[in-house]
Amino acid sequence: MRLSELLWLIPSAFAAQPSAPAPISAPLRDLHFGQLNFLHTTDTHGWLAGHLQEPSYSADWGDYISFAERLREKIEGNGQDLLVIDTGDRVEGNGLYDSSEPKGVYLSEILRHQHIDVITSGNHELYKQNTSESEFLHTVPDFKGKYLASNIDIHHPETGELVPLAQRFRKFTTKVQGIRIVAFGFLFDFTGNYNNTVVQRVEDTIKGEWFQEAIRDKEVDLFLVAGHVPAHSTEWRAVYEEIRRTRWDIPIQFFSGHQHIRDYAKYDSQAVALASGRFMETIGFMSIDGLSTEKGLRKQSQPTFKRRYIDNNLFSFYHHTNLNETNFHTEKGRKVSKQINKSRTTLGLDRVHGCAPKDLWMSRVPYPHPDSVYTWLETEVLAETLQDGASVERPSVAILNSGAIRFDIFKGPFTQDTMWTISPFTNGFRRVKDVPYEKVQLIMEILNKQTKVLFTLQDAVTEPSLLPLAGPEQVARSEEIVPEDDGLLEGGLFSNKGPSGQMPLVPSDFDSELLPGYTTKDDEGDDGDDTIHAPISFYKTPNCIQALVSADKSRVPERVDLVYIEFVQPYLALAAKFAGLDVDFVKESEVFMPSVTLTDLILKWVKNHWQCES
Ligand SMILES: *[C@@H]1O[C@H](CO)[C@@H](O)[C@H](O)[C@H]1NC(C)=O
Ligand SMILES: *[C@@H]1O[C@H](CO)[C@@H](O)[C@H](O)[C@H]1NC(C)=O
Ligand SMILES: *[C@@H]1O[C@H](CO)[C@@H](O)[C@H](O)[C@H]1NC(C)=O
Ligand SMILES: *[C@@H]1O[C@H](CO)[C@@H](O)[C@H](O)[C@H]1NC(C)=O
Repeated sequence: MRLSELLWLIPSAFAAQPSAPAPISAPLRDLHFGQLNFLHTTDTHGWLAGHLQEPSYSADWGDYISFAERLREKIEGNGQDLLVIDTGDRVEGNGLYDSSEPKGVYLSEILRHQHIDVITSGNHELYKQNTSESEFLHTVPDFKGKYLASNIDIHHPETGELVPLAQRFRKFTTKVQGIRIVAFGFLFDFTGNYNNTVVQRVEDTIKGEWFQEAIRDKEVDLFLVAGHVPAHSTEWRAVYEEIRRTRWDIPIQFFSGHQHIRDYAKYDSQAVALASGRFMETIGFMSIDGLSTEKGLRKQSQPTFKRRYIDNNLFSFYHHTNLNETNFHTEKGRKVSKQINKSRTTLGLDRVHGCAPKDLWMSRVPYPHPDSVYTWLETEVLAETLQDGASVERPSVAILNSGAIRFDIFKGPFTQDTMWTISPFTNGFRRVKDVPYEKVQLIMEILNKQTKVLFTLQDAVTEPSLLPLAGPEQVARSEEIVPEDDGLLEGGLFSNKGPSGQMPLVPSDFDSELLPGYTTKDDEGDDGDDTIHAPISFYKTPNCIQALVSADKSRVPERVDLVYIEFVQPYLALAAKFAGLDVDFVKESEVFMPSVTLTDLILKWVKNHWQCES
């Protein structure tokens, strides 16, 4: 692997968002361009402004547009082709999406300027009726002919008739070489959608007539299977096997999402899957050489595949295009960066509510720990803010799932934007009064340690729509961990599954040799990341945390009010059965502090405690 020289950039006059930190130079691995090349994003969750506190991911959607345009010029100039893919979860998780009314109006105006060849839906597009309807009425037409929904139907917003969310598949031929592609767009076997959409199981969809016909197309050089589906998954395995049953020698390229990780799966020598992270941290790159085209047979007996995970910053973009700040940015790219800035200003996302005195981490420190965001929530935020609504007769225990927090908090300004990134959910709280404290502890034990038991119970009561309590990164990592150890997931062991690189880098880090960040290990080895980083350690987070709200914390209470975030109710109900607590959570619980969300509580606490010094 040829490493380019360590280059230094002058930290000024970058595009990106003007307030974003300048990217930091680091040793880079080059892209290997091939006959057919791809750029891939997934799980962007509204982060189209890039990361304003993290130099490694500070490029915005406008810069990405410039990157794709410049790469296309270069690649097409060489007689090759470039395709751009997005595999869903574009909504929810960043103020640029969540803070407008209606949600997403600014975001979709920004998103549509990227030229995308295949785009699909994630699960987040389907949780609420109006989100999927907005997808159907706006995003699908914005990407007309490119938006694929192989296994999603929607009740038409006006007629109520059940129709495909978008076309099922697409056959097209690449611009330069005439590579004939049959493309699909899937969502994993998701059951938590609102009832105005219908998600057909992938395993059933591929038995359908239209799919069977599509894979029997004789004039095809590549099957392109994009979707909001993990790279290593039973769904992709099923699609792979179904295609191979009839087409043993046609290359298959999968693009994946949902787990928020960088990952690459090799199904056979000519079938691979790439997953490209989350939150606009990663631009996935793939190239394939040795494909046949409409003009002729393959030049080599076996196609070759190359993958690369590009850190989303201008340093990487300049390097891979061989351009610099004067000649990299395209007119369209600049316009979109300006549009993002304007939208952020209109939405007031830079409004400062306070200043965090230190970093608070989701998984970079063990739990509990003074720098753990969960410890902070339990001991400071909830213990204080829930006091208002709590009854005076007895103490309360508040339970929430760790997945309710979506991102780290960095030392420095805590803005309107920070609020949306750490807690975008709109769930309120509920309460069941007067239960034995000891049973609540048993429930916590079950929720955190006995997830197997929980899932057996879940099957028993057929509650298929339960969503994981922890965030997707944590779920992806825990699939790999079996032992109940001290919780340390070594960077080396785990870094491929980690949302690494969340370190706020400052220019003084310039003198360290390697910056901490993604150090991915996948089916092809450990040389996939474009930027060579020092690894980061990860620690397991609990599924659920609890805060005791009590006047006298030194005494273990006998009976408490059980307060919990709405989201965990079905889990509590299951765990309570197992713990022998006879409560009907649907009938016996009441709304606690009406229309107050976790986000509201955090904001209230921050305003009271984190004044900025100036
Ligand atoms: C938007 O642009 C203005 C003017 O260049 C700048 O002061 C401000 O910091 C920008 N906002 C962001 C989020 O970069
Ligand atoms: C959906 O409805 C909610 C509640 O009225 C609203 O806040 C939100 O903006 C709507 N979302 C969309 C995409 O229209
Ligand atoms: C969807 O659920 C709502 C309640 O949330 C119900 O009123 C409606 O009848 C359901 N629609 C269908 C098609 O099942
Ligand atoms: C950018 O590259 C062009 C062409 O190689 C060169 O003329 C120009 O001086 C460079 N600009 C900067 C700021 O390095």
